[in-house]
Amino acid sequence: MNYFNYKNSELCAEDVSLKTIAKEVGTPFYVYSYQTIKRHFDVFTQSLKNSSHLVCYSVKANSNLSLLKMLSSWGGGMDVVSGGELKRALKVGVDPHKIVFSGVGKTKEEIGEALKSEILMLNVESREELDLINAAARELHVKAPVSLRVNPDIDARTHPHITTGLYKNKFGLPFERALDEYLYARKQLHLNVVGIDCHIGSQLTELGPFISAVQKVKEFIQTLEKYDLHIEYVDLGGGLGITYNEETPPHPEEYGKVISDIMKGMKLTLIFEPGRVIMGNAGVLVSQVLYNKQTPAKNFLIVDAAMNDLIRPSLYNAYQQIVSIDKKEGDQLQVDVVGPICESGDYLGKERMLPRMKKGELIAVMSSGAYGFSMSSNYNTRGRVPEVMVKNDKFYVIRERESFDDLIKNEKIIEL
Ligand code: LLP
Repeated sequence: MNYFNYKNSELCAEDVSLKTIAKEVGTPFYVYSYQTIKRHFDVFTQSLKNSSHLVCYSVKANSNLSLLKMLSSWGGGMDVVSGGELKRALKVGVDPHKIVFSGVGKTKEEIGEALKSEILMLNVESREELDLINAAARELHVKAPVSLRVNPDIDARTHPHITTGLYKNKFGLPFERALDEYLYARKQLHLNVVGIDCHIGSQLTELGPFISAVQKVKEFIQTLEKYDLHIEYVDLGGGLGITYNEETPPHPEEYGKVISDIMKGMKLTLIFEPGRVIMGNAGVLVSQVLYNKQTPAKNFLIVDAAMNDLIRPSLYNAYQQIVSIDKKEGDQLQVDVVGPICESGDYLGKERMLPRMKKGELIAVMSSGAYGFSMSSNYNTRGRVPEVMVKNDKFYVIRERESFDDLIKNEKIIEL
């Protein structure tokens, strides 16, 4: 469910035509719908109403400060994976007791920042990390709240780049070793073992892998209890998929209910780290047609957005719908929608049926709210594009377009 619809034959975000925004901010740009984000957040949260829970939005999906502020004002916590993301969350006033810090490679500085900020917990991924956190906490004369990320060796049945719960992935502690690690962690003077964490991948479109993982985690918590190790939090990560094309992922209500049912009676707080399911279908990338070009093999629609703006198609061969912003009747043409970057991998969509489009006309790449802007880069010395938030009939630029000066501001011209 989202609020991107055609009104008077123009694609709108809520009550604002994307053409109106293009006139104001130029192209390309990302645009997000406030009401869609709110709805996704509310539905997800509601699905957990029968359990004690905390929804920690996964900042990596889209880290715009205005967005984080909105989510935090609705009671959302944050899942961060770097000192930078931690600072973003703190900057917009997220309650530190609602922040969890994930990731396999936290530095000592990042750990120190997290401990000083008194976040809820650090999700730990290795023995060496446990030791480093213990040492950092000792120096700060505090006890570090930790949860251990376990790897259940379950196939999430998603793209290999975003599967994280298999032993061949770098994530988590193998289940077989987890008990030893818990017993070890408990003995460390500056660690407070408060939770368990398990995230098996992203863009999951079936409930099965989630259910298997949660059941394994539940059994393991029961084992821990036998060792008199009582934890307070079960962080089940993120990963719930969305519809990009024809996928039929479980509805968040179903997902929340199934998990709450498995964990029923456990007297624990469930933590979730959703990213894509909140933001994916709440944003689109708008771009302008620059040229039409034919070769004996293909028709190319060359647009002003490129792989540096949205890398998902190039990186994962991901499919995202592409539509014309003007609703057009009449014949359609099969095109590859490509950007100006000097690589053949620079495409937004291949072999798409689109109405005949002319220079200056606009397209929207749908489902771009998650892992769109946050993965964008300056490749080919292209400034990152503006981000716009629409709420009802108003729109707000929540990030300005980068200028050439922004791009070179840390460079030095040295004569060598
Ligand atoms: N928690 C942890 C520990 C994660 O690693 C991730 C995503 C999430 C939560 C949020 O997962 P979500 O609910 O968004 O599926 N760039 C890729 C996705 C990478 C996901 C990385 N980790 C893409 O564009 O498809």
